[in-house]
Amino acid sequence: MAIDLLLGLQWGDEGKGKIVDFLAPKYNLVARFQGGPNAGHTLEFDGIKHVLHQIPSGIFRDTIKNVIGNGVVLDPVIFKQEIEALDKFDLNVHANLFVSKKTQLILPTHRLLDAAYEKAKGVEKIGSTLKGIGPTYQDKIARTGLRVGDLLSQRFKDKYQRLRNKHLGILKEYDLSYNIEELETKFFESIDFLRSFKLIESEYYVNEAIDSGQKVLAEGAQGSLLDVDFGSYPFVTSSNTTSSGACSGLGIPPNKVGEVYGIFKAYCTRVGSGPFPTELFDADGDRLQKEGHEFGATTGRPRRCGWLDLPALKYAVMINGVTQLFMMKADVLSTFEKVKVCIGYKREDGTETDIFPYEVVAERLDPIYKTMNGWHASLSGISEYDQLPSELKDYVSFLTEELNVPINIVSTGPDRTETIWRTEVAV
Ligand code: GDP
Ligand code: IMO
Ligand code: MG
Repeated sequence: MAIDLLLGLQWGDEGKGKIVDFLAPKYNLVARFQGGPNAGHTLEFDGIKHVLHQIPSGIFRDTIKNVIGNGVVLDPVIFKQEIEALDKFDLNVHANLFVSKKTQLILPTHRLLDAAYEKAKGVEKIGSTLKGIGPTYQDKIARTGLRVGDLLSQRFKDKYQRLRNKHLGILKEYDLSYNIEELETKFFESIDFLRSFKLIESEYYVNEAIDSGQKVLAEGAQGSLLDVDFGSYPFVTSSNTTSSGACSGLGIPPNKVGEVYGIFKAYCTRVGSGPFPTELFDADGDRLQKEGHEFGATTGRPRRCGWLDLPALKYAVMINGVTQLFMMKADVLSTFEKVKVCIGYKREDGTETDIFPYEVVAERLDPIYKTMNGWHASLSGISEYDQLPSELKDYVSFLTEELNVPINIVSTGPDRTETIWRTEVAV
């Protein structure tokens, strides 16, 4: 058996939470492999909207186990809040959620460092979610981080003190006010709470699940264009959001990876700073923002909006080895007479390219567009692919041909039920 991966192909917020929840009944186990509370994954069903940050999106399905993998950076304070928010839904969270002992812990001082570093960057700021992601991964790579397994050690408090003292020393160089006692009281309450969960050797758990024939789905956070190696560096997050990140973030070998589901919006959004070649600053951009309710699920910030960027999408398909595509938010383009797709860029020296180049960060790339007829019709109530407007099917066919990978889901609304199979995935 194999593990299937579900990954965002753009700058995050493609709709990963919705699709993991939708696919979850086909799986026995859902595992998060990177990122942390910078993620905001929205699920909608039975008229209720849920936003998950660190908990895998299989948690609402009673028969499914969920793993927070070693590649994740976990904030215990947010973890406690998230679990408490689920209390009223009568889920079996303690039985169904497992946390890797190798998951890195986000300390209150990691969050403070994130704020201090961003403030010091001024106009060059990354637009971080300020959840402490960068500083926590920094400590992981520097081999100075604390891990969930450390909670079980008698020496946890000592280890904590050593790291927070180092951080407080760095913070003296920055102009930031904070109340560390208050933050630590909450932190240690949350640490006790986290200890009450099943803290496991998750690489054994996940591999044994795969080997015993269980169906496992890895849930990505962020998107390929925010990957620390392949995204628009330095305007990226601090983890590998692409398929290789699933291997290192869960301890699964590449030859156990089965399907790679790549998920993208029918247009593009980005929250935070950094290059975005197809960004719109006109009425079309405003309309995408309004129709798509494009506000960050974690920070509430308005998302920047623009047309679909095919060179960037092809790049993400290549890096991830995508085997199936899912297209989200087709309904948001419903009011447009014409829709555009970027098929290449004009560079500053006047040459044209159809790759997503290194220079995307330093140079202005002018998109070259193909204009297509919009579908200009409501998609609500449609449940079969064949019933979709022909212009939308033409859009899907064009993208399928360009990307050379089938688009098997078209999503037409935020609710679980507003999801149309073109060809149903056999798991
Ligand atoms: P994630 O981070 O990839 O899980 O995505 P987010 O939850 O941050 O953002 C996606 C947003 O789009 C959420 O508000 C979803 O409820 C919403 N959404 C998902 N799919 C669709 C869709 O097909 N149509 C519309 N209109 N909204 C959608
Ligand atoms: P999901 O999983 C969209 C962006 C931030 C910022 C940059 C770095 O919901 O798709 P960080 O806090 O990681 O240091 O921020 O990355 N970012 C996201 N944008 N969706 C996300 O997650 C994001 N997680 C981080 O806005 O530009
Ligand atoms: Mg999100």
